[in-house]
Amino acid sequence: MWIVIICAGFAAGATPRNEIPIGPGLRALAAPRHLDIGAAVAIEPLAGDPRYRDALARDCSILTSENVMKFGPIHPEPDRYAFEAADALVAFAQQHGMRVRGHALVWHEQLAPWVTERQRTREEWQRLLHDHISAVVGHYKGRVYAWDVVNEAVAEDGTLRETPWLKGIGPDYLEMAFRWAHEADPDAKLFYNDYGESNERKQKAIHRLLRDLLKKGAPIHGAGLQMHMDVDSHPRPSAVARAITRLHRLGLEVHVTEMDVAVPEPFTDRRLGEQAELYRKMMRTCLDTKGCTAFITWGISDRYSWIPAFRRGWGAALPLDAEFQAKPGYRAIRDALSR
Ligand code: XIL
Repeated sequence: MWIVIICAGFAAGATPRNEIPIGPGLRALAAPRHLDIGAAVAIEPLAGDPRYRDALARDCSILTSENVMKFGPIHPEPDRYAFEAADALVAFAQQHGMRVRGHALVWHEQLAPWVTERQRTREEWQRLLHDHISAVVGHYKGRVYAWDVVNEAVAEDGTLRETPWLKGIGPDYLEMAFRWAHEADPDAKLFYNDYGESNERKQKAIHRLLRDLLKKGAPIHGAGLQMHMDVDSHPRPSAVARAITRLHRLGLEVHVTEMDVAVPEPFTDRRLGEQAELYRKMMRTCLDTKGCTAFITWGISDRYSWIPAFRRGWGAALPLDAEFQAKPGYRAIRDALSR
C-alpha cells in the first residue's frame, strides 16, 4: 500500500531526473511579441503519438504541412485529390487555434509521377497547374492562412531553376501561380519560399525576381527563408537580417519557414551548445528585424526530423530531443523570446 501511494505521489508531483521543467510554452512567449511560432508537422506522429501532439499544442501558434500538401501526396492521379491527411492536420490546427501554412503548390520535387511522365503542350501545362492550384487552394479556402505558392524556383547562380514548370510554361509560371492562388482564396497570404541565406548572389536574384513580379501586379505577400543549416555551416545573422530587410522594403513580410540545425554524430554537449547559440541568434535576428513575422522549425522533436534520412551521420537538429525533452536549443529560443 505504502509503495503505491509513494509512487503515485512521485508521478503526480516530481520531475523525473533527466526531465527539464519547461514552463509556459513558446507560443505564450511569442504572442506578446506579435510573432507566430511553429513547426512543420508530419502526419503519422500527429495521428499516433500523443507526446508529439502535446508538444505542438504547447509551443505552436502556426503549423506547416511537412509533406501532405505537396503535389504528389495531395494530387496522386490526374482526376484524384487526396485531401484526408491534410484535412486532419488542418482540423488539429483549428482545434488548437493555430494558423496553417500550406506547403507547397509549385515545386520541382515530390511531384506525382503522372505529371512528369508524359509530354505536354504549353497550354496543357498551364491547364494542369491552374487546375491543381485552384483545386487545392479552393479546398482550403479560409482555412489556410498562408501558402508557399512557389518553392525553390531560383538556382544557386541566381538564374531560374530548370524545373518541369519552367520547361513546360516558361518564366511566366511564377506570376500565373500567384494569380491563380489569389483567385482561389483572396484572403490567403501568398509566399515565395527558398533556401540559400548565405548565398548573396541568390538572395539578390530572389529579391529582383519578387520585385519584378510585384511590379507586374502579382499578388505576393511574403517571402520564406527556409534556414536549414548545421553547426559548421550556417548563415551569419547579419546576412539573414539583410535579406529580411531587403524583402520587407518590397512590402513583403518574411517568415523563417524551415529552420533546423543539424549536428554531426556524436551529439556532444559542446555541439548541442553551438546549436543552441544558432537558435538563439536566429530567433533574436527575427525579433529584432522589422518584417520577420513567423519563426518555424522543420519539425519539433528529433524523433521525427527529416535530417538523419537526408544526411547520413547528422541529426539532433530540432529543439526537443527524441524523448520530447527540451534541449539547450529549446531553452535558447525561450530565453530569446523572454528577453
Ligand atoms: C522534406 C521533408 O521533410 C521530407 O520528409 C521529404 O522526404 C523531403 O522533403 N525544403 C523544403 C521541404 O521545402 O519541403 C523539404 O521537406 C525540406 C527542404
